[in-house]
Amino acid sequence: MRAFSRRSALQAIGAFAGTALSPRASFAGDGLPVLRAAPSKAQLAPEGYPATPVWAYSTGAAGTVPGPEIRVTAGDRVRYRLVNDLPQPTAVHWHGIRIANAMDGAAPLTQAAVQPGGSFGYDFVVPDPGTYWYHSHNRSAEQVARGLAGPLIVEDQDPWLGEDGAATREIVMVLDDWLLGGDARIVEGRWDDLHAASHNGRMGNTVTVNGAAYPELAIRPKERVRLRIINAATDRIMPLSFPHLSARVIALDGHPVMPRDVETLVLGPAQRADVVIDGRSDGEARAALLLDPGNGEWVDIAGFTHSGEALSTHGPDVRPLPAWRTLPAPDLSNPQHETLLMEGGAMRGMQEARYNGETMGFRELAANGVVWAFNGAANDMSAPMFSANLGRTVQLEMTNRSMFPHAIHLHGHHFTVLARHGSANTKGDVRDTVLIGADETVEIAFVADNPGAWMIHCHMLSHQKSGMMGWFEVA
Ligand code: C2O
Ligand code: CU
Repeated sequence: MRAFSRRSALQAIGAFAGTALSPRASFAGDGLPVLRAAPSKAQLAPEGYPATPVWAYSTGAAGTVPGPEIRVTAGDRVRYRLVNDLPQPTAVHWHGIRIANAMDGAAPLTQAAVQPGGSFGYDFVVPDPGTYWYHSHNRSAEQVARGLAGPLIVEDQDPWLGEDGAATREIVMVLDDWLLGGDARIVEGRWDDLHAASHNGRMGNTVTVNGAAYPELAIRPKERVRLRIINAATDRIMPLSFPHLSARVIALDGHPVMPRDVETLVLGPAQRADVVIDGRSDGEARAALLLDPGNGEWVDIAGFTHSGEALSTHGPDVRPLPAWRTLPAPDLSNPQHETLLMEGGAMRGMQEARYNGETMGFRELAANGVVWAFNGAANDMSAPMFSANLGRTVQLEMTNRSMFPHAIHLHGHHFTVLARHGSANTKGDVRDTVLIGADETVEIAFVADNPGAWMIHCHMLSHQKSGMMGWFEVA
């Protein structure tokens, strides 16, 4: 197994093909457009290496990684018939959408996984604008690792584009992390590796942007561009840096934030950030998007190549995105208090935990592929972790007692980050996935306004698979 170096990729400069255009759509018998999941191939490694066999979504032509961009406007309906041409059962989850429960795609909680040769009709309304994604939610540690993920972009009713401090253009950037062998094939089975699962999860060796290694994106000097960045990796936390581009973050997980400068932006698996950059004005021809692979050495994962006429300078301030119209504010005067305790992993393994209705010791758990637990239970789907009445504010205190960070995701809701470690987080960011460091406690609150059974899990999919999954109920 080998990593692809930046040097071997130089020949690939210019090979970037741009975002997927929606090919001619095909339709199922019931009139729903088809979203097909099937084996395909993709040129993930730099030119000169073979194409990689992947599992991919398509809406007409051959499957691509990432899957075809789905783009709608807030308030629109999204309708697809998922057709499963994979050798395994699958389901599609629409990550971050405050969706009707039956459409959430969280197998086996909200639907049975679709058998090979079978299909399932998804039909739902998207209430909130922002940057989202869709991905497999059955055996997802394997299926997302094989490529089953794509961008879902929900535009605001008043498009945030044009002059006056908005961007003039946007670029969707789906970041992914592949574990490729020297033949550019995905290394099989690492999604089952308990050693990786008990540490940071399955780490890859090839980071791609929109399915390409080291793409060059063309922008103009001084041009203001909105980047919609999605971390679609199964397990990799991505610290990102945008030197020389005066980057400001304007949304996190789809939800607007007051524009603020970012030098380093850390995106956990499944997290998104909308970042505005201004093309260089110093006459240099290129700027880089940098990623820290975990050793503090920033590597170049994409370039912004400046060409063409300089645009006239934008106003200095970035205009905030319009606020969401329908997210209720938590009522913190009398919330329902709940706790989530995360335990397990290497170096601080659990003495015991409940699994499959039995209390097991460390070795027996490991023999069952379990190395993590939520509140003393591993992947217990037999009963909810808590139940909230419809409309009630839930305040959830999440404590990470392990040596590794976790990316905790709640389905069906966005939540306000109230505090970290007990110290107030004045930013009050609204998110659907939050990173919680080793020994950290994070408090969140949300209005349980969406009825149904909702998953809560670590979005490091190796951790989810090996114990960090449960659900809560809103009724
Ligand atoms: Cu992005 Cu439960 O998933
Ligand atoms: Cu985790």
